[in-house]
Amino acid sequence: MTIERMGVIGGGLMGSGIAEVNARAGLDVVLVEISDEAADAARGRIEGSLRKAEQRGKITADDLATTLNRIHPTSDLGALADRQLVVEAASENEQVKLDLFTKVGSILDDDDAILASNTSSIPIVKLGAVSGRANHVMGVHFFNPAPVMKLVELIPSLTTAPATLDRMRSYVTDSLGKRPIDATDRAGFIVNSLLVPYLLSAIRMYEAGYASAEDIDQGMVLGCGHPMGPLALSDLIGLDTIQAIGESMYEEFKEPLYSPPPLLDRMVDAGLLGKKSGQGFYPYDS
Ligand code: NAI
Repeated sequence: MTIERMGVIGGGLMGSGIAEVNARAGLDVVLVEISDEAADAARGRIEGSLRKAEQRGKITADDLATTLNRIHPTSDLGALADRQLVVEAASENEQVKLDLFTKVGSILDDDDAILASNTSSIPIVKLGAVSGRANHVMGVHFFNPAPVMKLVELIPSLTTAPATLDRMRSYVTDSLGKRPIDATDRAGFIVNSLLVPYLLSAIRMYEAGYASAEDIDQGMVLGCGHPMGPLALSDLIGLDTIQAIGESMYEEFKEPLYSPPPLLDRMVDAGLLGKKSGQGFYPYDS
């Protein structure tokens, strides 16, 4: 029952990292993007990340070539048919994910294949309901950057079978060498429930003209020992993703601290999405 053939849907920030982690662990990976161009771009991102790992002496040139050869980028969802596990990491948009779970649920040949979502805030139970295989659907929430961060949140829904959770726990621990924690199917799970209100508070502080972006970030780096300040971290995560997570959490709990502030909405409208778009609270080389 060991998972050897897996698929990833979405090859953005998270999907490309998840594909890399799996390929480095020796799994065969089909990576599905929205178009052939986007699939090529995802492959380019993975190659860039592997080159950095090679330069740092973490992998050899041979490892790089072998790992890349295990990843098959495509725009064809049908290529997922023979997979034992699919991790969906498409944009944080409920309708996009519902469409994908509806389609992929009927594409998988193996009745025991697991369909997991890397969503940060969308109810897992809804994704299970449309998939036609709710007992084989759960959340598996990786952290950014996936090749570096050890943590994975495991999120069974009300309809996930215990055997699905067991299988995912041994996949995360034994195959990927990561550390799972168990969360409940509530928007934000454990980490984002604590992190997102903090990031939104920092954005509100900046929006109010209380302090500069640099000083807010330095305050938390030098004053609290965080490796990165909240505005730089927001840029790294992606402002559109934070907005979507905040909206889902607000919809679920009606807690004002979760509601995205107007500045965040305007930045997303303007295409200022953070590091991935070249500009957020700070500028980045594209
Ligand atoms: P992103 O915006 O970097 O990438 C999303 C990718 O999904 C894009 O490349 C897009 O072309 C692709 N996509 C959209 N619709 C698709 C479809 N129908 N079929 C195939 N591909 C499709 O977003 P990111 O940051 O990678 O987020 C992806 C998921 O991971 C979201 O659910 C997000 O909440 C979650 N997440 C994000 C984290 C972060 O730090 N950014 C951390 C942990 C989870």
